[in-house]
Amino acid sequence: MIRTGRAADVENDILARYRERTPNSQAQHELARRVLPGGDTRISTHYGPYPTYMATGEGAWLTDCDGNRYLDLLNNYTSLVHGHAPPAIVEDAADQLTQGTVFGSASKPQVEFAKLLIERVASVEMLRFTNSGTEATMMMMRAARAFTGRDVIVKIDGGYHGAQDLVKVNVSAEPDRNKKLEARVEGRGVPSSVLDTVMVAPFNDLNAMETTLAEHHRRIAAIIVEPMANSGGMIPPLPGYLRGLRDLADQYDVLLLFDEVVTLRLSSGGMQEIYGVVPDMTAMAKVIGGGFPIGAFGGKAAIMEQFNPDRASEVIQHSGTFNGNNITMVAGMAAMQRLDQAAIDRINSLGDRLQAGINSIFRSASLRARCHGYGSLQQIQWTDEDLISLGDVRRANQDLGKLPQLFHLELLNRGIHCSPRTMFNISTPTQEADIDQALASVEATLHTLKPYVSETLPGLLLA
Ligand SMILES: Cc1ncc(COP(=O)(O)O)c(C=O)c1O
Repeated sequence: MIRTGRAADVENDILARYRERTPNSQAQHELARRVLPGGDTRISTHYGPYPTYMATGEGAWLTDCDGNRYLDLLNNYTSLVHGHAPPAIVEDAADQLTQGTVFGSASKPQVEFAKLLIERVASVEMLRFTNSGTEATMMMMRAARAFTGRDVIVKIDGGYHGAQDLVKVNVSAEPDRNKKLEARVEGRGVPSSVLDTVMVAPFNDLNAMETTLAEHHRRIAAIIVEPMANSGGMIPPLPGYLRGLRDLADQYDVLLLFDEVVTLRLSSGGMQEIYGVVPDMTAMAKVIGGGFPIGAFGGKAAIMEQFNPDRASEVIQHSGTFNGNNITMVAGMAAMQRLDQAAIDRINSLGDRLQAGINSIFRSASLRARCHGYGSLQQIQWTDEDLISLGDVRRANQDLGKLPQLFHLELLNRGIHCSPRTMFNISTPTQEADIDQALASVEATLHTLKPYVSETLPGLLLA
């Protein structure tokens, strides 16, 4: 159906300019659709009308297969904290490449890198490497179950911990505040039996967590939580929430597991350092791989010793052909050595500037929207309400029509690469001038979209 009116003009104009700029991406996508379902191999990189195919990256910048350049504020979903092809990391990885990628044996780089991470993250006395954050959270949960002899993990409604079955429960939060919160399997192909081992509680709600623990603690092994809900919308914890979780875990004798796969970048010791709360175990990934696939999980020595194969029958099996491979180990080490507190403070303050700048643009445009987050991690939400639980975020995202999609495409048209849910993160090669450019692009994008908003979502504009 051809729509008329200014909103339709805006939509048609954004899509037309997107197609005009990216013919090679479109052609590539047509080929891709024949061999990859939907033309893609990862749900988060898929968006319509077809994704932009990036070809090369250097520092904070990407170039697509049509030669367009973008400031990268996605950085492979927060993992490339030093941007693309950082020379020092490339050099170390290339050097290792010439000496062998993985030997099917124990190796010195594993020990050195484990030591570095243990020195940084307070909760981690011993750790193990995996190839993804998904495996890290899976093994961390397994360790908690084995250690306590109990099966149930309490997760946050709307929390994301990777692609494994056991956390494919309430990945989307319940938007209706008045509805009783119930665990539900999310995603086809996930067995309903996972519900026997997972319970849910809302983010930032200590009362609800206490109710769950009081009733079920004899069956509960652990609570798993992201210190800041990232895929839930970059919603930081309320003051006292993480401390309260620690106290409740102690009171009811269950383990507290932090998923710091995304938040580790916020301080040299992760977000647990910022809030001064030490969990029993921590999962990490993304930035610690220096641009290569990785995950790691660790915690108290008594818990981690369960993985010691010398324990014979009591051992928790943990395998993985590429666990601790040399390339990832040396690249990860180079990345983390360069991600010291000074580098982190710098990108956090660039992120703060981006957030404040976007919020000031929204205010000047009389738009009920806000950028949320902490330091180098940010996300736009199309509401000016306070967002506390992840159900609040989900509710705010309902009925937005095509606004998020058009905003994302127009940012691409204006040279900004971010996630389709308008999540931004800052890499160390990013400069102050890049933030100026990002803010100018956000302002121009909003200007383009204002008639669309006035016509289709007038409630988003202040009277
Ligand atoms: C909080 C969190 N945990 C776990 C994962 C899974 O990590 P991976 O994609 O490396 O499996 C992600 C991925 O985005 C994540 O955001």
